[in-house]
Amino acid sequence: MKMSIKAPAKINLSLDVLYKREDGYHEVEMVMATIDLSDRLYLELLDSDEIILDVKAHFIPEDRRNLIYQAAMLLKDKFHINKGVRITVDKHIPVSAGLAGGSSDAAAALKGLNILWGLNLSTEELAEISGAIGSDIAFCIYGGTALATGRGEIIQPLKRMPSCWIVVAKPSISVSTPSVYKELNLQEVQHPNTTLMLDGIETGDLDKICQATGNVLESVTLQKNDAVKQIKEKMQAFGADAALMSGSGPSVFAIVKQYSRAKRICNGLRGFCDEVYLVRPWSEKSEE
Ligand code: C5P
Repeated sequence: MKMSIKAPAKINLSLDVLYKREDGYHEVEMVMATIDLSDRLYLELLDSDEIILDVKAHFIPEDRRNLIYQAAMLLKDKFHINKGVRITVDKHIPVSAGLAGGSSDAAAALKGLNILWGLNLSTEELAEISGAIGSDIAFCIYGGTALATGRGEIIQPLKRMPSCWIVVAKPSISVSTPSVYKELNLQEVQHPNTTLMLDGIETGDLDKICQATGNVLESVTLQKNDAVKQIKEKMQAFGADAALMSGSGPSVFAIVKQYSRAKRICNGLRGFCDEVYLVRPWSEKSEE
């Protein structure tokens, strides 16, 4: 038995941190949306008791360090599975970018293995289990648009994001999420208006959504990395309706109503930034 499944990237339309918790994590309030920029996983059932991972990209581990491997092991141990799987991954989402590429791959593996190994787990059960290997995986299991709270693993699905264009740019630097959280000074940040964002999503009002964008982690990553700041400024100068860093960075995205402007932003960034993508929010058509 073989199957293939898409693993879309996410952006944070808003990312607020409320406080640092006793367990070391931060209590967050994030509105997230999947976009039509995806990896693809191919899963093949093996009768032998092995997990074989083949990632078609450089610098990505194919062993226990990979979240896909951890996802498969988690289900195997929890449900005493004695079958195996070969998972081949076509990577398109930039790596270590703040776009949840690794988390989305793990979510797709959990969803695929749920079918392949006949586990019949619900979306809620899969999301709950995923918390053991990462905070962002639960959102990726739901996909679409959602409010994520707790350490990011409590998901409340929302209406789809209204139609628009999204330009994603990833500078060629890497950012460590734990260090960004560690360096965050909550006294200094400007908190995004999550209530306004939720209202914008509920009413399908793109102007409100653009107005409510905000990411407290920018206060750390933008200050330390000039390239990230410059990309955001260029997006704004070229006519973005909103421009924001995603997650802990370093990717920045622009929300744009008009295709011609979105193209202008892409063209303006080329030469300055190697990885630039013009995509749309995830829709039913994106499943194909
Ligand atoms: O859960 P995940 O492994 O993706 O988180 C990576 C790191 O990011 C954590 O070890 C922690 O340092 C930081 N983090 C946090 N608060 C969150 C999510 C992540 O401090 N809500």
